[in-house]
Amino acid sequence: MDQNNNIKDLPIGVFDSGIGGLTVFREIMSQMPNERLIYFGDTARVPYGNKSRDTIEKYSLQISRFLLSRKVKAIVVACNTASAFALDALIKTVPVPVIGVVEPDAKAACEATKNGRIGVIGTMATISSHSYDDAVHAIMKDAEVISRSCPLFVPLAEEGLWEDPVTDEITRRYLAELTDRGIDTLIMGCTHYPLLRSTIARFAGEGVTLVNPAYETAKELHALLEKEDVLTKKEPVLGQENRYQFFVSDMADQFKAFANSIIPYGILSAKVIDIESY
Ligand code: DGL
Repeated sequence: MDQNNNIKDLPIGVFDSGIGGLTVFREIMSQMPNERLIYFGDTARVPYGNKSRDTIEKYSLQISRFLLSRKVKAIVVACNTASAFALDALIKTVPVPVIGVVEPDAKAACEATKNGRIGVIGTMATISSHSYDDAVHAIMKDAEVISRSCPLFVPLAEEGLWEDPVTDEITRRYLAELTDRGIDTLIMGCTHYPLLRSTIARFAGEGVTLVNPAYETAKELHALLEKEDVLTKKEPVLGQENRYQFFVSDMADQFKAFANSIIPYGILSAKVIDIESY
């Protein structure tokens, strides 16, 4: 009997500093509708984007211990900042497959670019880590990577100002220096940015391909689980509220309200846990 059979039906853990990782969660739901998913949003300690590597590593290891306590078969770091700072530490310590968002994005960008000029936007921490530069250069040595932190995008996305004159003005300023340098591909290197996609696309211009971490990561996750032979073969029998579970470190009601605006079914509950105890 296939010893992976028990593992196949375990859930996949997905985590983010808060709500942004739900864009990745939503994409995994759509690309792998049979899988059970557990989401953790670190709503008590968000934002990660202006914190140090040591802090992000500590938080990410605590979260992975929590997810492992729920018996997950794989962990998705659905946060660009945590992927940039903590992925290596997680891969070294976590006994299940771990996937971040940086490498799938870099791979997609290298496949998409024609002129070798790739733009990257993300939080201050992500951009200062140079993770995207390293990941792109590991695939395409001669690529020119032009990066820009866009710290106002996260609050704009959380305020629901996805299409708004204020967002237009800020996007215009942020993207000008990238488009002036002739990028033909732009990595939206932060979980929140897909929510601003249409505004970003408008200011990036028609000739620029946008790389969406949510889509690319779900695709890579599928490939990884297939390679490890741990994709579930079962049609879902559980109701959605059991198939998809949500945990946060604070502010469950706000989380639920936001999640309900982007997940394509009603979230019934989000449970607060004490993440510091893991
Ligand atoms: N989730 C973070 C990221 O993708 C953005 C929000 C934060 O700063 O925590 O980088």
